[in-house]
Amino acid sequence: MNIKPGDWVLDPFMGSGTTALVCQMRNINSIGYDVMPISEICLKAKKDVFFYDLEEIRTLVKDIEDLKIPDGYNKRIPHIMITRDAYPEENEIFLQYIAEWRDVSGYSENLKKPGIFLHFAL
Ligand SMILES: C[S@@+](CC[C@H](N)C(=O)[O-])C[C@H]1O[C@@H](n2cnc3c(N)ncnc32)[C@H](O)[C@@H]1O
Repeated sequence: MNIKPGDWVLDPFMGSGTTALVCQMRNINSIGYDVMPISEICLKAKKDVFFYDLEEIRTLVKDIEDLKIPDGYNKRIPHIMITRDAYPEENEIFLQYIAEWRDVSGYSENLKKPGIFLHFAL
């Protein structure tokens, strides 16, 4: 495609916003939307990808891998209710647990953005 800096790109299926991110990197304007509410959360996390501390992200990934959900915990994350029954119940419970854990973790405010945790959890 012959798209130049300053041009506009429309992505009607934004997902987590890879197209928008590439546009940002190349000074191309972009606009888009997505039927899934979680798309907005992922996009907000992704747009700051160059400002994250990689060492902190490595620690976060390890912590998430080691995370154990307490017995009896059964709350579900509200952000993906639109997909209820589309994903296994344990995914929705795991995402909710991570969202709560994030709030009490010692990570930087930058890394505590919801999308970052969700990206690495998924
Ligand atoms: C493969 S992803 C798109 C990836 C995205 N183009 C990017 O650059 O990262 C496909 C997306 O289309 C969205 N989608 C499917 N049907 C849709 C519709 N009718 N309106 C808006 N978004 C839709 C899905 O929710 C999903 O996030």
